[in-house]
Amino acid sequence: MDITILAIESSCDETSASVIQNGKVLNNIVATQSVHEKYGGVVPELASRAHQQHIIPVVDQALSLANIKKKDLNAVAFTQGPGLLGALLVGSSFAKSMASALKIPLIGVNHMQAHILAHFIEDPKPSFPFLCLTVSGGHTQIVKVNDYLDMEILGETKDDAVGEAFDKIAKIIGLPYPGGPMIDKYAKEGNPEAFSFPETEMPGLNYSFSGIKTAVLYFLQNHHQKDENFVKDNLNDICASVQHRLITTLLQKLKKAAKQTGINQIAIAGGVSANSHLREQLNTLGQKLNWEIFIPKFEYCTDNAGMIAMAAHFKYLKEDFENINAAPKPRM
Ligand code: KG4
Ligand code: ZN
Repeated sequence: MDITILAIESSCDETSASVIQNGKVLNNIVATQSVHEKYGGVVPELASRAHQQHIIPVVDQALSLANIKKKDLNAVAFTQGPGLLGALLVGSSFAKSMASALKIPLIGVNHMQAHILAHFIEDPKPSFPFLCLTVSGGHTQIVKVNDYLDMEILGETKDDAVGEAFDKIAKIIGLPYPGGPMIDKYAKEGNPEAFSFPETEMPGLNYSFSGIKTAVLYFLQNHHQKDENFVKDNLNDICASVQHRLITTLLQKLKKAAKQTGINQIAIAGGVSANSHLREQLNTLGQKLNWEIFIPKFEYCTDNAGMIAMAAHFKYLKEDFENINAAPKPRM
């Protein structure tokens, strides 16, 4: 018998649905919310409203593209957390109603675990154990992945996530939201060693990214006083230098984690894994240290329901189901 699951992602500002059959992701429909651009960040209330508008068309499209009828589904999965409460509520309420109407199991998925399990959507797939640097707008973690649903956090940020640092620094520079991809774009034409920014020393495998944001702010204010065109004239170099600082910090700890654990299968996941400098530097480091590197396809780096579907498949096999009273967990 086929195992067919519908998965829904609504933790932040993408409404997404995906159908997975027997562990193969059949599609991954994503509706991006452009409403936040003019506010320079995600506005939770607007995110919830946009999820409400998008969720039915997105689910309908995923089902019809996969040629799956609702009665063919074996389970409905949703992102249970972490994320914005109002946004999570839209996806969870929808999934619960559907599972309850169809009398099929409900599966709650941890969004960060799903980012990691995105590596099992397509080949090449890592084998266990492997290390995953999980870098998004809300998280920065080095995770030891022992099995599909058995993961240990070895280190994490104690303040801002690296994606948050990218976005906040981009805002200081005057770039539109989301700033991470904008910094990446301008950095391509810049010199990563043009300016140097300090690094906050952190014990063990932990990170801190709030200091660099303040350092960039003072640096730009200082230069602006002397030359009001400073940012405009040096945009590429500023972006390249900021990006280089952030990525170097990420990789230093990852290197330490690989050494400590003796693991040489290294993966990256989450929105910031779309960053071209991270991809390049990781490949270079990997060649030098004999690592086997795993980088997800661009589509599965940023928020998507394909990864939620993949996680749901593994949970289905273990019969790890949620009760119909399951609540969203913003800080899961
Ligand atoms: O995983 P994700 O889509 O959403 C969260 O779960 O947070 O990650 C979004 C984050 C944002 O901070 C965004 O600026 C960052 O990923 N991001 C990038 C790039 N693409 C997305 N950061 C740097 N370079 C990129 N190319
Ligand atoms: Zn995410």
